[in-house]
Amino acid sequence: MPVKVLMVCLGNICRSPLAEGILASKLPADKFIVDSAGTGSWHVGHCPDKRSIDVARKNGINISAQKGRQIKSSDFDEFDYIYVMDNSNFRDVVHLAKTPEHKSKVRLILNELFPDENVDVPDPYYGSANGFDNVYQMLDEVTDLIADQLLKKHS
Ligand code: 4NP
Repeated sequence: MPVKVLMVCLGNICRSPLAEGILASKLPADKFIVDSAGTGSWHVGHCPDKRSIDVARKNGINISAQKGRQIKSSDFDEFDYIYVMDNSNFRDVVHLAKTPEHKSKVRLILNELFPDENVDVPDPYYGSANGFDNVYQMLDEVTDLIADQLLKKHS
């Protein structure tokens, strides 16, 4: 059974599609499944934001085939790890979790790099293109760590 990791943000068009693509590029596809979802429903069925597609492409990762979806209750059973991008996502996702076991799967992603500091991956949607480079760098750094942890734990 592959280990399943879900990346979550608000819209599922900027941050979590990048987190999905970057982490998936660091893990063997036969052992790990990485997916992403939004807490909101505005972008269900949409491609990632062009600025996320562009920054990923610039770094050799193709996220253009992803389609937005909203997080659902069955995700808490299906996924082993649920990483959220910011504190607001954390509150929303924990609120949807129905059991302590489900809640325990939810982690604020940058706490892997900065334990207990509760730092957000900033939402780049309303900002400049440079915000997307910044988000890419943060996610690249933290997914190095997450990929190492997952490979150690599940191999
Ligand atoms: P994301 O960014 O959560 O990183 O995908 C957003 C994208 C769209 C919206 C909000 C955040 N929106 O309100 O449409």
